[in-house]
Amino acid sequence: MRNCTLGIDVGTTSTKTVLIDENGSVISSATKEYPLDVPKAGWAQQDPSDWYQAAIDTIKEVIANANVKPEQIKALGLSGQMHGSVFLDKNNEVIRPAILWCDQRTEKQCQQIYDIFGYEGFIKLSFNQALPGFTAPKILWLKENEPENYKKVAQILLPKDYVRFMLSGAFATEVSDAAGTVMMDIAKRDWSDEILEGMGLTRDLLPKVFESPVISSKVNEHTARQTGLVEGTPIVGGASDNAAGAIGSGIIREGLVSDSIGTSGVVFATSDKPVYDPQGRVHAFCHAIPGKWHFTGVTLSAAGSLKWYYEGFGANEEFRKKYPDKQGYALLNKQAENVEPGSESLLFLPYLSGERTPHGDPYARGVFFGISYRHTQDHFVRAIMEGVSFSQHDCLEIIKQQNITPDKVVMFGGGAKSKVWRQILADILNSKIVTLNIEEGPAYGVALLAGVGAGIYEDIEQACSQTIKEVSENNPIPENVSRYGKLYEVYHALYKSLKEDYKKLDGID
Ligand code: XUL
Repeated sequence: MRNCTLGIDVGTTSTKTVLIDENGSVISSATKEYPLDVPKAGWAQQDPSDWYQAAIDTIKEVIANANVKPEQIKALGLSGQMHGSVFLDKNNEVIRPAILWCDQRTEKQCQQIYDIFGYEGFIKLSFNQALPGFTAPKILWLKENEPENYKKVAQILLPKDYVRFMLSGAFATEVSDAAGTVMMDIAKRDWSDEILEGMGLTRDLLPKVFESPVISSKVNEHTARQTGLVEGTPIVGGASDNAAGAIGSGIIREGLVSDSIGTSGVVFATSDKPVYDPQGRVHAFCHAIPGKWHFTGVTLSAAGSLKWYYEGFGANEEFRKKYPDKQGYALLNKQAENVEPGSESLLFLPYLSGERTPHGDPYARGVFFGISYRHTQDHFVRAIMEGVSFSQHDCLEIIKQQNITPDKVVMFGGGAKSKVWRQILADILNSKIVTLNIEEGPAYGVALLAGVGAGIYEDIEQACSQTIKEVSENNPIPENVSRYGKLYEVYHALYKSLKEDYKKLDGID
């Protein structure tokens, strides 16, 4: 009888659940989408009950589609979008919609955090800047803007940890996601009493912190009845979507770097030591591997930029007629391939909802620069892929300054499915880009962690080496590297020129 594990990833657009066997083969997978509520420009909220319902539905679906008995499922793992704030009252009811990682409303509260701890003082304590997407400023926002709701708060959970609570009844989190609240002592891998005290919070408001492969809770009777899982099935700590994605792509040793192009774009590098960038330009969080840490640089709107373009402009009739054999993103890839590297000097700044790395600027906005009569829709598509890749280049450059020297970059996420985007990234990062046999992302990573927790694998190294293989390779083309190098200088300078204008724009009603 095969041993199996389940991985559930509570994403921003959907929840994805995968069932894998001990060789790492995917037996079945299911995805369920839900809406994103944008009540104001720059705000982003979701209803936590949508995540829970999607988890239940997808668990049911993967079990129904697999020839596996529930007893064969030895453990499950949870991963999810980071930084979101779920506020529960004393009856464990959700108080208001969760405020998400891509929400930019808390700039003022970030400043308040620096007022409490000092700018450098806070980076020293949390290893990170206080950025609007992170959890800590969201708590202060609630206090200031919805005091009645704040008074009711009895527990603060991250998105996947809310789903864990609903599946098991336990309040628990784990180190990699907890790090993204910026309320942790990253070196000690536990909540920071100093930060909590400074913010007027107590430990009882927060869940217990586990290591990622350790069993944190068990499937309760209600969930067992609803899903068909066996009551008592262990739930491991799990991981943030980025750390889980890294496990699922073998980024488990110092020197290994990945680039995930999903809604956001994330450059991720493992580190053996708890170190941080003194300017806090890249995030320094705990890895899902005990005794390891990681750096990440985040482009907020990566494939999200392409999705925005596609939904708003890209799918018109004319293009469908021009490429009758192509649909959706395949059509966009075709358009990008029609254009020479550099998009005839059309540049795109992907700051559609502000930017995280390297600017930490909620006011920044998207820009197309250099438009001429020569540019067609094809150029705009390619310029978006290039602009997002320039932004990922910004992230990688800062990570390299932390003494991380990658010899290749593992690419995954929706963008990795695009051959043209893989080559663009190889040319812009000036690095070999590889893709893997596994395309299941974070859900797969936490299914492996669940396997470690259940004793199916000895450790994370064994889980990865037994399951993950490289399947494609793109090498930089010197001519393109040189052209992109020149364009990158202009790209890089543009933000500096526009920084103050973004603020002025925001000030206009
Ligand atoms: C990471 C971040 C995003 C979300 C997306 O810091 O904010 O990658 O985790 O799901």
